[in-house]
Amino acid sequence: MCGIIGYTGKREAAEVLLSGLSRLEYRGYDSAGIAVFENGAMRVVKKQGKLSVLSGELKQSPLKGNTGIGHTRWATHGVPNDVNAHPHFDQKKKTVVVHNGIIENYLEIKEKLLKEKCHFASETDSEVIAHLVARAYKGDLLEAVKRALKVLKGSYAVAVMHQDEPGRIIGARFDSPLIVGLGKDENFLASDIPATLEYTKEVVYLENGDIADIRGRSCGIYDIKGKKVNRKSATIKWDISQAEKGGYKHFMLKEIFEQPVVIKDILKERTHGPEIDFNELKIKKSDLKKIRRIAIVACGTAYHAGLTGKYIIEKFAKVPVWVDTSSEFRYRDPLVDRETLVIVISQSGETADTLAALREARSRGALVMAVCNVLGSSIAREADGVIYTHAGPEIAVASTKAYTAQLSILYLFAFYLAAIRKTQTVTQRKKLLAELGRIPLSMVRILDNCHSRKNPIAKYAAEFHEYYLARNNKSCFLYLARNINYPNALEGALKLKEISYVSAEGYPAGEMKHGPIALIDENPWVVCIAVQGNTYGKMLSNVQEIRARGGIVIAIVTEGDHTLERGDIRYVIEVPKAPEIFSPLLVVIPLQLLAYYVAADFGYDIDQPRNLAKSVTVE
Ligand code: G6P
Repeated sequence: MCGIIGYTGKREAAEVLLSGLSRLEYRGYDSAGIAVFENGAMRVVKKQGKLSVLSGELKQSPLKGNTGIGHTRWATHGVPNDVNAHPHFDQKKKTVVVHNGIIENYLEIKEKLLKEKCHFASETDSEVIAHLVARAYKGDLLEAVKRALKVLKGSYAVAVMHQDEPGRIIGARFDSPLIVGLGKDENFLASDIPATLEYTKEVVYLENGDIADIRGRSCGIYDIKGKKVNRKSATIKWDISQAEKGGYKHFMLKEIFEQPVVIKDILKERTHGPEIDFNELKIKKSDLKKIRRIAIVACGTAYHAGLTGKYIIEKFAKVPVWVDTSSEFRYRDPLVDRETLVIVISQSGETADTLAALREARSRGALVMAVCNVLGSSIAREADGVIYTHAGPEIAVASTKAYTAQLSILYLFAFYLAAIRKTQTVTQRKKLLAELGRIPLSMVRILDNCHSRKNPIAKYAAEFHEYYLARNNKSCFLYLARNINYPNALEGALKLKEISYVSAEGYPAGEMKHGPIALIDENPWVVCIAVQGNTYGKMLSNVQEIRARGGIVIAIVTEGDHTLERGDIRYVIEVPKAPEIFSPLLVVIPLQLLAYYVAADFGYDIDQPRNLAKSVTVE
């Protein structure tokens, strides 16, 4: 986690760094800082708290100069405070460093440096890098960084400056992302593309082990062996406006509302008549034909997409699928081999556990396919093949549009595989694609009712808020569903706890009698997903069991189904009719909105919930 940025050129560096950090704040936001060359001297300003605190401080005492580095932090080693915030100086204040990642052997290095009378200012692992570079410095920062990096174990993206070389920044990456933004007489370093998009669309994705040497008018890149290399640049196709709120109060709300267009675009791009087109997927159809089992591996929301993927792929392609969280898969001695396709799903493409799981799977001979949103990300590059979701930048920490985009790709991949394995006829596929094609419009219908705070979901959230306060915060949420919507129960609960800090659990409704029913009294609110489908009758029985014990039910039902309303359920949310298999794409929208409105009623920071970060690049 953490976001880093570097700038060298003719602009006021502090302005570029602050603007870049504002677009990286999703990566961490417990403290922030910048270092700028001012009249030949390096000055650092860093503050605990959100970026606004740093901006306030810089208004009081501005930093003037054209080269600098910046950082927004998500604490791992050392509490969030001004001292532990980056950038970090070496003892003589001649070398300054920002770092994203974890230096696993920092204690060992620190001990050695302490013996050599090195003085440490902070409790961070990152500070060792500044001291190591300072000690290795003999007049050339590039050489000093190269030497220092040899000692480090763990993951890093760093940007380093030295007092004696104004206008020069050295960046390096190993298992944490870093890009170089190429401008005219100016160059940038950043953890992610939105940070530099305002200034340039030409970027170079650094590879693991790469070191970049940037100045205003030059950019040299060296590989892990120190050999100068020519890395091709890519032109970013999307616009900075896509990384802005566009009139919405929060990124999360904007991203929820973007879903119909995202899904429509995916279907348009990926289907030509009954054919599914994954043009960028380097894995051959003949190899996919040979696979005998699939493992889906992911974290957080992407894991929930994977759970739904199991239902979809098994149903259409008739291949057994199991799903793992990346952190379990990587340490479990997983049974994957040449006949296994491992699908790793990741919005950011940088999640450390998923990346490690991918490497584990590849080392065991499995074929690895990634489903990623971020172009050129580590997971996308290291997999045997990638399918991009092309959902545009997702900024809110709580994932929404990436989830429905991942689901859409999984539907299409299941059809693709079914065609290869001949488990689906063209006529069947045509019919399914036509039904899937109607989903974006149905999403629009759900969202159309939700533009104002008068919509039923916002109303129910407000009633929950009052109820919660009246009971001294004693209430909680339970989400129940069956079959293909069960992963949505997990996702609904995750969304709520992520941004509203209300305790929430998701359960397969059939398991209720094996535990969760003990929780039911008048306190919990129970979201029951009871759309039409082959377990509908069973869900109705679950609702009755909850009501019989005094539980409060919010039911999500198919449009026009008044059964539960007639049976005294006050809180009912309707979603348009759709084949059960595609219903997860619709059902999740009210779940996202419910979480959003509950958090909004509490007045919490929805886009940047406490303790979380968008991209978890540490274990
Ligand atoms: C973090 C984010 C989640 C996300 C998860 C996996 O926990 O807060 O929103 O689902 O990481 O991220 P990935 O980028 O791998 O999909």
